[in-house]
Amino acid sequence: MAARDLGTFIRALPKAELHLHIEGTLEPELMFEIGRRNKVKLRFKNADEVRKAYAFSGLQSFLDIYYESAGVLKVERDFYDLAWAYLERASQQNVRHAEIFFDPQTHTARGVDFQTVIEGLHAACRDARSKLGVTTKLILCFLRHLSPEEAMKTLEEALPFQEHFEAVGLDSSEKNRPPGLFTKVYAKARAAGLKAVAHAGEEGPADYIRQALDLLKVSRIDHGVRCAEDAELVKRLAAEQIPLTMCPLSNVKLRVFKSLKDHNIKSLLAQGLRVTVNSDDPAYFGGYALDNYVETQKALKLGEEELAQLAKNSFEASFLSAPEKAGFAREIDGLSRS
Ligand code: ADE
Ligand code: ZN
Repeated sequence: MAARDLGTFIRALPKAELHLHIEGTLEPELMFEIGRRNKVKLRFKNADEVRKAYAFSGLQSFLDIYYESAGVLKVERDFYDLAWAYLERASQQNVRHAEIFFDPQTHTARGVDFQTVIEGLHAACRDARSKLGVTTKLILCFLRHLSPEEAMKTLEEALPFQEHFEAVGLDSSEKNRPPGLFTKVYAKARAAGLKAVAHAGEEGPADYIRQALDLLKVSRIDHGVRCAEDAELVKRLAAEQIPLTMCPLSNVKLRVFKSLKDHNIKSLLAQGLRVTVNSDDPAYFGGYALDNYVETQKALKLGEEELAQLAKNSFEASFLSAPEKAGFAREIDGLSRS
C-alpha cells in the first residue's frame, strides 16, 4: 500500500483528550473580550503583546501569568464561553471525548462562587454533547501550592455539585509539594465515589509518581515523564498499565525537554506503557491536541501503528464505560486497516 499522509491519518483518528486545563485554553482574544465585558484592565495592550509574553523559563513562570489571566473570568457566561470555545475547537480536530481540569481555587480566592464556575462549565459540556457530539467529564483540581486544609475546604464546597464532576486532580507548582501532603483530602474524595488523578513527575522527582499511586491511589498520572529516571517504576507502570497523560508541546515550552526530539514518549510507548498525547494549556503552549500529535509524529518519526496505539490508549485510559471504549477501539482498528 502506498504510504499515506500521516497528517491526514492523525486528523481522521478519533481522539480523547485527558489532560487539559480549561483555564489554559483562554486565547488572548477571548481574554480581552471577557476583560472588556467585566471591566477588568489587563496590563497588555493587545493579543500580540500577550503572546510575546509567553516565553517561559519553567512551570512557575508560566503559572504566574496563567493565574493572572484567569482574573478576567467572573460570571457564569465567562466560564461557558471559555469551555465552549475549547470544545468547538477540539471537535474540529476530531477529539470525541475530553476530560477537563478546572481549578476552582483560582476563582473562589477572587470571590467567584464555586457554583458559578461549575454551572458555566457544565452548561458548555451539555451543549457540546448535543450540538457537537463530543462527550466530556470534569475533573476538579486542587492547587498544590496551597494547603491541604484549603483543598479540604474546596472539596467540601464542591460535594453538593458532585453530579457535575467525575474525579479530583492535583496541579500547580510541583517542586517541594509532594502528593503525600494531600492524602487525607484524596481519601475523602474517593470515599465519596470520585475517581482520582494527579500531576506527578513533570518537574518533580519519580518518587512523586510512586506517592501519587500509593498514597493518593490515583488511576492515572498526569505528565509522569520523569518516571524514566527509575527503572523499577517504569516496569511497574507497564505491568499495571497505569496511564500517563503526556503533553509534548507543554514539556518543551516549560523546558522539561530541550526539544520534541528529546521527548521520551516514543521510548515509553515501545516499553509497553499506556502513554497518551494531550495539550495541557493549548492557548499558552502553541497547539491543541491535533497539533501535539502532528508535531510529535514529525519530531520522533512515529508510524501509523504507533499513532493508532496512542489514540487507542487515550480512550482506554479515559473514564468512559467499557462498551464506549470498545467502540472507539473498533473505529481506530477500521481506520488502520483501510
Ligand atoms: N496548571 C496548568 N498547567 C499545569 C501544568 N502543566 N503543571 C502543573 N499545573 C498546571
Ligand atoms: Zn497539566
